[in-house]
Amino acid sequence: MTYLVTGGAGFIGSAFVRLVLRTDPSARVVNLDKLTYAGNLENLEAVAANPNYRFVHADICDAEAVNRVFEEEKPDAVVHFAAESHVDRSILSPAPVFETNLRGSFTLLEAARQFKTPRFQHVSTDEVYGSIDAPHEADESYPLVTSSPYSASKAGSDLLALSYFKTYKMPVTVTRASNNYGPFQFPEKLIPLMISNAIADKPLPIYGDGQQIRDWLFVDDHCRAILAVLGKGRDGEIYNIGGSRSLANLDVVKRILATLNKPESLMKTVTDRPGHDRRYALSSEKLMRETGWNAETDFETGLRETIAWYQANAAWVARVQSGEYRKYYEQNYGSR
Ligand code: NAD
Ligand code: DAU
Repeated sequence: MTYLVTGGAGFIGSAFVRLVLRTDPSARVVNLDKLTYAGNLENLEAVAANPNYRFVHADICDAEAVNRVFEEEKPDAVVHFAAESHVDRSILSPAPVFETNLRGSFTLLEAARQFKTPRFQHVSTDEVYGSIDAPHEADESYPLVTSSPYSASKAGSDLLALSYFKTYKMPVTVTRASNNYGPFQFPEKLIPLMISNAIADKPLPIYGDGQQIRDWLFVDDHCRAILAVLGKGRDGEIYNIGGSRSLANLDVVKRILATLNKPESLMKTVTDRPGHDRRYALSSEKLMRETGWNAETDFETGLRETIAWYQANAAWVARVQSGEYRKYYEQNYGSR
């Protein structure tokens, strides 16, 4: 089995690459990644010397480079993680979001069509359903109501992928996961940002009233769900992947502060995110029923493990927070 993983140097992609190579000695993994600010080969040190692993430095929008990899590797499955994945960056600067998330997804779909790849697994997000009023949960038939350039681009690429199933009978599956957390997450997202700022005794920026609700999914549970869909998912189907643990942001941040023994006075209310979705809530009933998948990591355990990882990997954090990160931080938080 040869997996062509795109975006395998990012947070979730690298967890997927490590999981596959750790658990399946017969698998070959080809990781195609542009190494944007979010791509980091340090995340893959554990597998770099594995003979079943190959890294290809390329942009998914570059059709020539993409086709070359398909020609050389004839992958059995594409697992498409590569994306501009951060909502705040998509608000500050939408162009790369549409370029990678739409044009890049199209380039890959075309290559998979040309090379008759047996499986195309498109990794998407619960953000495509938009804000959901309590007590409802979105199942896979819920309408797409996007709020940010990021979520609009992901909804667009979902529809594009599904159109390749309908029109060309390509074996496409789409997964839509809730908020991931865990080791190696870039410290622009809520949990790693709050952990790293709290460790450094810096202010913790809370958007608006902090009562927005997210459903938290440990990254390895997400990766196991993708493997379950690759194994048992049906062509042309969408599968939601939720963590079944809904919490208000303020609650998450207070837990982080308590675990680190830091004062709540570090929290600082700042101007809200424009177009901020109030609540995400997913039903993963279809995935559980059809594949037998279940989230294995409860939030308390996963959060403790994540905090411990950031404490033990201060050098990783310092490296990713140098250079470009500082410019982004100033741009996003400077005037809030
Ligand atoms: P990330 O930002 O950590 O990593 C993205 C990776 O894609 C990086 O390695 C980057 O270098 C690579 N990349 C970006 N543009 C590229 C291009 N043009 N060509 C090749 N590589 C490129 O993202 P993540 O949080 O790991 O998310 C991975 C996927 O999962 C995304 O598709 C995202 O939409 C989806 N998702 C994320 C979450 C979450 O909570 N993080 C939840 C649900 C779905
Ligand atoms: O729901 C899945 C999505 O989760 C993924 O598709 C995205 O790739 C991923 O970035 C994430 O999007 P969110 O916008 O929900 O995640 P983020 O970590 O940016 O924010 C989580 C919540 O925390 C959100 O309500 C905004 C709030 N927040 C975030 C940051 C970075 C703050 O209050 N302060 C902050 O500084």
